[in-house]
Amino acid sequence: MHFHRFEKIWLIFGMVSLIVFLSIVGVSAFAMDQHPSGGMDTIDPEKVEETPPFDDPGVRQIDEDTYEVVMIAMAFGYEPSQIEVPAGKEIVFKVTSTDVTHSFTIVDTKVNMMVIPGQINEKRYTFDEPGEYLVLCNEYCGAGHHVMSTTIKVVE
Ligand code: CUA
Repeated sequence: MHFHRFEKIWLIFGMVSLIVFLSIVGVSAFAMDQHPSGGMDTIDPEKVEETPPFDDPGVRQIDEDTYEVVMIAMAFGYEPSQIEVPAGKEIVFKVTSTDVTHSFTIVDTKVNMMVIPGQINEKRYTFDEPGEYLVLCNEYCGAGHHVMSTTIKVVE
């Protein structure tokens, strides 16, 4: 079989790129131990309601400038359904799911987590402005996916 010279160059370029790409991914994942953020902590999805901190979901003040918000996602909502946090303080969101994969997405913020049964995901965020923030599920999770939402009230 005869290859044109340019075809050969592009084939070699393609193969080298693939090898370089897979090497970078492989070295960073296995040698440098890099993983996606969050999801480091695991939890038995059948025992979420008995496992701290999910046995008592809600808002907790950790220190002067930090609050923790523990939430459980399930088909088709979030527990607790009403939460209120202060503006200007760092909020540590901790989420998990009792059934299927959902998401915890606060509209117009950079908070956008997958909520995976068996894993605890965490994200820190500070609301600069008071107001009502819409939380949506953007992972298709079943017949009620489109109604799965809640709001977070941010107060002064
Ligand atoms: Cu929960 Cu979509």
